[in-house]
Amino acid sequence: MDKSKRPVVIAGNWKMNKTPSEAKALIEELKPLVAGKTGCETVICVPYVDIAVAVEATKGTNIKVGAENVHFAESGAYTGEISAKMLTECGVEYVIIGHSERRQYFGETDTTVNQRVKAALMAGLKVILCIGEVKEQRLSGITDEVVSMQTKLDLEGIDAEQMKNVIIAYEPVWAIGTGLTATPEQADETCGVIRRTLSAMYGEALAQATVIQYGGSMNAGNAAELLAKLNVDGGLIGGASLKAHDFSVIVDAAQ
Ligand code: PGA
Repeated sequence: MDKSKRPVVIAGNWKMNKTPSEAKALIEELKPLVAGKTGCETVICVPYVDIAVAVEATKGTNIKVGAENVHFAESGAYTGEISAKMLTECGVEYVIIGHSERRQYFGETDTTVNQRVKAALMAGLKVILCIGEVKEQRLSGITDEVVSMQTKLDLEGIDAEQMKNVIIAYEPVWAIGTGLTATPEQADETCGVIRRTLSAMYGEALAQATVIQYGGSMNAGNAAELLAKLNVDGGLIGGASLKAHDFSVIVDAAQ
């Protein structure tokens, strides 16, 4: 299967930015810029409190709404957490799981990431699973081992049917929010390692059908080059997704 048969998914990750009124303003600005751009799936992953506004403002458009995390339990005594069912009932379609900031600052492990992936898929959400190496791991030459191990652990127990709703975002941690982007070659190579891992786990056809995004300082200036790579099927975009123009240029590059 060649790359052109895989969908391209451009997803914004707003992180802890934008109040509901600011979210509405940004979406209104973005809507006309991405209208009719059907060559990729366009997603905005927003803070929980912006979900209602985002779902309402994107009705009837080609922009899909995602959350930035989800808890693994169905309900219960987990003060401050949000369940997958809460998200789907609010109109959320996608959820980011295992972002490096969650792993780094909030004690997220491959075990809890795997539990969240299972809960999200069970509830009918599409998962954007983030994996990636830290700088020391890249410098030690163990990037391939790290991303391969994360892929296996985070997808443990997920079957081929469920994989249809899983996107993987390769995000080298050293490139997130730092302005340091992986070179297109590095992005392609490591997305390729993830694809080979999927092939070993699920077979080549599924590996070839899975969307693998690159994330880490992707912006209006470098998106086209990264997206042109064989194994890069889209982007997970932080900083540049907070500016309607910049984000729309990336969506354009994906057409
Ligand atoms: P960045 O963030 O584009 O600001 O580097 C990407 C991400 O963390 O998903």
